[in-house]
Amino acid sequence: MTRHPQLAAWVDEVAALCQPDRVHWCDGSAGEYDHMLRLMVQAGTAIPMDPVRPHSIFVRSDPADVARVEDRTFICSRRPEDAGPTNNWADPDEMKARLTSLFAGAMRGRTLFVIPYSMGPIGSPIAKIGVELTDSPYVVANMHIMTRVGVKVLEVLGADGEFVKGLHSVGAPLEGNQADVPWPCNSSNKYICHFPETREIWSFGSGYGGNALLGKKCHALRIASVQARDEGWMAEHMLILKLTSPAGEARYVTGAFPSACGKTNLAMMVPTVPGWKVETIGDDIAWMKFGPDGRLYAINPEAGFFGVAPGTSMKSNPNALRTLRENSIFTNCAMTRDGDVWWEQMTDVEPDELMDWLRRPWHPGIGRKAAHPNARFTAPARQCPVIAEEWEDPKGVPISAMLFGGRRASVVPLVTEAYTWEHGVFLGSIMGSETTAAAAGKVGQLRRDPFAMLPFCGYHMGDYFAHWFKIGRTHDPAVLPRLYYVNWFRQGPDGKFLWPGYGENSRVLKWIFERVSGTAEAVDTAIGRLPAPGALDLRGLDIPASHLETLLSVDTEGWLEELPLIRKHYASFGDRLPQELHAQLGQLEERLQAARV
Ligand code: OXD
Ligand code: MN
Repeated sequence: MTRHPQLAAWVDEVAALCQPDRVHWCDGSAGEYDHMLRLMVQAGTAIPMDPVRPHSIFVRSDPADVARVEDRTFICSRRPEDAGPTNNWADPDEMKARLTSLFAGAMRGRTLFVIPYSMGPIGSPIAKIGVELTDSPYVVANMHIMTRVGVKVLEVLGADGEFVKGLHSVGAPLEGNQADVPWPCNSSNKYICHFPETREIWSFGSGYGGNALLGKKCHALRIASVQARDEGWMAEHMLILKLTSPAGEARYVTGAFPSACGKTNLAMMVPTVPGWKVETIGDDIAWMKFGPDGRLYAINPEAGFFGVAPGTSMKSNPNALRTLRENSIFTNCAMTRDGDVWWEQMTDVEPDELMDWLRRPWHPGIGRKAAHPNARFTAPARQCPVIAEEWEDPKGVPISAMLFGGRRASVVPLVTEAYTWEHGVFLGSIMGSETTAAAAGKVGQLRRDPFAMLPFCGYHMGDYFAHWFKIGRTHDPAVLPRLYYVNWFRQGPDGKFLWPGYGENSRVLKWIFERVSGTAEAVDTAIGRLPAPGALDLRGLDIPASHLETLLSVDTEGWLEELPLIRKHYASFGDRLPQELHAQLGQLEERLQAARV
């Protein structure tokens, strides 16, 4: 229980509205976690995986509840213009009225769990507290892994500490003796609503991932981005890694990449360049504040990985697979005959028979996927074999460089260093990912995803760009991180990737390390600084010279063709687009025109 009268009153108010059978205050203990697993096993939600994966469970969701629902996600700011063109907006009073009637009696027959959690090491000056009220034991178990839950959080909260209020229900009350289903949800009534001014989240109808684990996207990105704007810090959709040179010198790098662009793989990569080491601090979210020395310090607000399973293999990410050996939750994967999980590309040879995520028999060549493409693992970060020893340092780690990247088949080179912070903000603002492969030499179907924050920025994206510029104006440029645009996904005319990716990306990281240390050469081009000839360490890498030529040169015509697309993208932000971005775009055009003649 709590000494915080406001928290106690809110829990009472929610209990009166939702009418659960009982209220359980989570203490965060191992016993409580086991109790959640037992509840899920009894309800038919989960299958225990012992001894194949000790202390792990296998879960399958309702097929109508398998992913984040962006079209049901709302930013309910007082003024519509504060949500901006990239978010769905709803009036906060109207939305609360609508949701109040949905939440009325919604927890009947269930338990209301009160989850006090810390995003970030408990007590860190960068961490923040939230409390999620939920009727889902699956959510409680996942929050145990993904955040720090329990009594210690209530102690830090004290009698009057600030916290983000998150209310969640699967929206499936049990009336009378009604039997439960394995995955209760309310698929025709999903609402993932954020009230940025009052720092509240109300989520109804979905029990899956970012819709339901409110600490992650809802709190740590949408609400936190608003807090960060108001308080002068940064809440970003970024991995954090530690890079150590053969001489033992360490640098910390963050990277913003849209979903499905390999953030978890990069954060845990096994470098191919001899003597270099990559260790993980975080794989999805970075919260960053300036320290007394003027440098930007980052923490990973999460305590676990909620990763996309398909594609994860000993080749793409051996450290992730090693992380998942025990104490993990697997959702919507396929099941092998001996009770283990499987997903596409997990092994070179496909098992000859499986039960797919919809419980149907599956065999190779059947013509459908065995695991859902958004099948997930939830695993404690401390189990990662390359977790950095300072990953829970309350003061965070000082960031030397930030990467922006997406999936670009054409135009964007392997790596570009921004000339200045402002130029880097421009590069972040135009980043995007191709939704389909581009025709050779042409720009493909692009979804612009500025800073990988398109679905996660809790306010007007134009104001978000302005916040980045303000950070640059108000801090010492000499110690601000350097900004880089990277692209591991460039393709040749045959549609094949030109760069091998994975551990070979360490070559790019090495160049960046040496740039921020002042020891690597670069050449100035129209689009930014590219590695000077010989500056990128390519020893031992067997790729055709023509590939390298494409990866490391400027496609002037391709960039000129991008300009109208960037203008169109910018036009959507109206007069909230900072002037600096128009200026950067103008300068890019001038430099490209000059390069042409
Ligand atoms: C995630 C996402 O789950 O970006 O991290 O969708
Ligand atoms: Mn993410």
